[in-house]
Amino acid sequence: MYLKGISLQNYRNLQPVSLGLGEGFWLILGANGQGKSNFLEAISVLCLGKARRAERDRDLIRFGEDFFRLEGKFSREERGDLESVVRLGPDGKELLIFGTPVGTLAKFIGEASCVTFSSDDVDIVLGEPTARRQFMNEALSQLSQGYIFDLARYRRCRDQKNKALKDIRERLAPVDSVEVWDQNLAQYGGRVCARRARFVRQISELSAKIYARLSAEAEGLQVSYEPNVSAPEEAPQWPEAMLQAIVEKRPEEIRRGMSLVGPQRDDLSITLNGVDGRGFASRGQARTIALALRLAQAQLMRKQTGEWPILLLDDVFAELDETRRALLSEMVSEAGQVFATAASEGDVPALEQRQMGLITLRRGQIEVEKTAEAAA
Ligand SMILES: Nc1ncnc2c1ncn2[C@@H]1O[C@H](COP(=O)(O)OP(=O)(O)OP(=O)(O)O)[C@@H](O)[C@H]1O
Ligand SMILES: [Mg+2]
Repeated sequence: MYLKGISLQNYRNLQPVSLGLGEGFWLILGANGQGKSNFLEAISVLCLGKARRAERDRDLIRFGEDFFRLEGKFSREERGDLESVVRLGPDGKELLIFGTPVGTLAKFIGEASCVTFSSDDVDIVLGEPTARRQFMNEALSQLSQGYIFDLARYRRCRDQKNKALKDIRERLAPVDSVEVWDQNLAQYGGRVCARRARFVRQISELSAKIYARLSAEAEGLQVSYEPNVSAPEEAPQWPEAMLQAIVEKRPEEIRRGMSLVGPQRDDLSITLNGVDGRGFASRGQARTIALALRLAQAQLMRKQTGEWPILLLDDVFAELDETRRALLSEMVSEAGQVFATAASEGDVPALEQRQMGLITLRRGQIEVEKTAEAAA
């Protein structure tokens, strides 16, 4: 799939603009702080309905304004063209597909898809478990509407259960008042875990192959799911396994006044030749692992939807050595559309075989200098 055109209004530091784009490789050049990452982020917001980097949606509105609006026109091989709008104003957020509001984020995500690669991705390896759960959530949300629903319902139930547990601890409610939540928690939480388990199995195989190609040392990368409930043999048994774990932990949950079982405590184990990579991998190794995971995510999306997601590479080339740069550009060249930012052209490998468009960014002003078609 690829973005045919984008319009931006009041988005971060970017000047209002309407651009025509096309398939191929787009290089986005600009000095530090000019708005390159913001431009990639705007594209990802048109796919995900929200921004990874922003804590609050309103941080995306240009300082001093009271709304932003993004509009994207996408070309999709499998499902036909798409027009989507994300608008945030004083009355809240609106997500539109072909001009019609879609009620929930779940219905919006997955219409257009993208994978962002950025230097923050080393957190997937070196950071807290939250970063690894976020990686799973972001990928799975684009692959499965059911996952988004289950995760949202799970979180609602868990919040209510946590409140009940607090009330019990403060002797405002009887001890058995917590049980009503457990059945639903196990149901939704179990389904979330089952999907994560399957996703990690698939990602594990793909990322190991990619890592072997990317790393000259040919180290063995192994990624596996580390749920906080012992995994059942078969996927449909997840809810049951979770319920059992919840019941076992109940006395401790009541004592501590919080729920202790469920997907909010999951992790991914990442090992390199059998050694734990989390916290121990070198910076360069962590970067390569993260890159392998993102490429695996993109390949998996391609496999399951029949289409390449749009690839957004934020300053990724600058951080890689010559060999890895060349390998990366070869691997992404299969995708329909790639946007890659760089502060200088020298950071990006020569891409003779690819159509290369050029976009420059200066103080939020976006200019298409050369279209990908014209560069062919
Ligand atoms: N809501 C906002 N309104 C106006 N400006 C904003 C807003 N949010 C961020 N900015 C500004 O946007 C500028 C550009 O940020 P961006 O991260 O896109 O730069 P960049 O070109 O990617 O730089 P670098 O090369 O350092 O990564 C920053 O100076 C930041 O202060
Ligand atoms: Mg940037």
